[in-house]
Amino acid sequence: MNFFERNGQEYLRRRASGKPPRILGQILSLNDFEEQARRLLPRPIFGYISSAAEDGQSFQNNWAALRNHGFVTRVLRDVSQRSQVVELFGEKYTSPFGIAPMGINALSTYRCDQVLANSASQAGIVSIMSGASLMPMEMVAMESPRTWFQAYLPSQWPAMEALMDRVANAGFKTLVITVDIPVHANRENSARSGFGVPLRPSFGLAWDGVTRPRWLLNTLLRTIVCDGMPHFENLFATRGSPILSAKVANDFAGTSHLSWEHLAGIRKHWKGNLVIKGILSVSDALLAKNCGADGVIVSNHGGRQLDGAVAPLDMLEGVVKVVGSHYPVMVDGGFRRGSDILKALALGAKMVFIGRPFNYAAAVASQAGVMHAIQLLHDEIDRNMAMMGVTNCSQIDEKYMVRINGGGH
Ligand code: GLV
Repeated sequence: MNFFERNGQEYLRRRASGKPPRILGQILSLNDFEEQARRLLPRPIFGYISSAAEDGQSFQNNWAALRNHGFVTRVLRDVSQRSQVVELFGEKYTSPFGIAPMGINALSTYRCDQVLANSASQAGIVSIMSGASLMPMEMVAMESPRTWFQAYLPSQWPAMEALMDRVANAGFKTLVITVDIPVHANRENSARSGFGVPLRPSFGLAWDGVTRPRWLLNTLLRTIVCDGMPHFENLFATRGSPILSAKVANDFAGTSHLSWEHLAGIRKHWKGNLVIKGILSVSDALLAKNCGADGVIVSNHGGRQLDGAVAPLDMLEGVVKVVGSHYPVMVDGGFRRGSDILKALALGAKMVFIGRPFNYAAAVASQAGVMHAIQLLHDEIDRNMAMMGVTNCSQIDEKYMVRINGGGH
């Protein structure tokens, strides 16, 4: 029996019996997905997902900021009944974490955007579809209408308006605008791994494909055979360029002139929930609120934009203080554990978004992998809430947290 037959038979047998793929038995935390994904994905694809800008300072800051905060637990409080359900924009979600938007993820697993959105919707958590995605937003919204859509603003107003109309017609109720990419970051680490936009076919990429037959067959060939050559489908109201085309660079360029006036125009035109992602300063959070945004995501783009940018966790309290504790302040960047999520809640976040690990989970075992990741985080939060002495997310506040290595509250 060859590799494909063996894998295919294993997959069908486990699907029929409802058993998760065997590989998930070895995945005991979100961090465990990374090593498996590294083995399964071609180096440029893994390099694109895993890399951070320049020297990775912001990437490390995210990690360090989490370690600089410690829990102050309460005990003997009857924590036998616990719920981690949260409410945001009038919707109830099973857990206080969601899936961050990630571009180009259809190269991680077949129709990854749909896999992420369907898993999230099945689990009752939020998922945000990236505007830099390779499958049409309408396909995702149709199956998982609670998905949020994240857009990069096109350079000119008519194109922005047309994109918003498309997002609304597709059925999305929440639009996230990413504002931390006035210019392209220095993605030298991505380039070192062989990744570029456009993606250039090379001997290295071909060799990686041949030596990773599962990816070649189940992701690349399946995509090309079933859906055709991947294009950037959602940067504009109309289809963008194929991922191999030199024109792709233009699709992402020309946005450095954007200002809060554009955002005011967006707010006027978009009738659904509007979330601004990529805020770090307290002043910008206030500008977003005053512009009429319904919420902000405090973020340094997973350390992928300005290297040296502060960790979002370190700005959270200040932001919440200025916009008010009822205003939806969300956060992303370096969160990997239930305990990390609970730290952000203690500092005032209403929702925490996690990116890379869900991308790896999809690469490892598609929907079963993503569901496994969601379950792991859910269980970690549940256990940790009990050990903190809380039964509900709304009880978690700054009293449960001290800043260590940098002064207490
Ligand atoms: C896209 O948002 C990226 O960080 O690559």
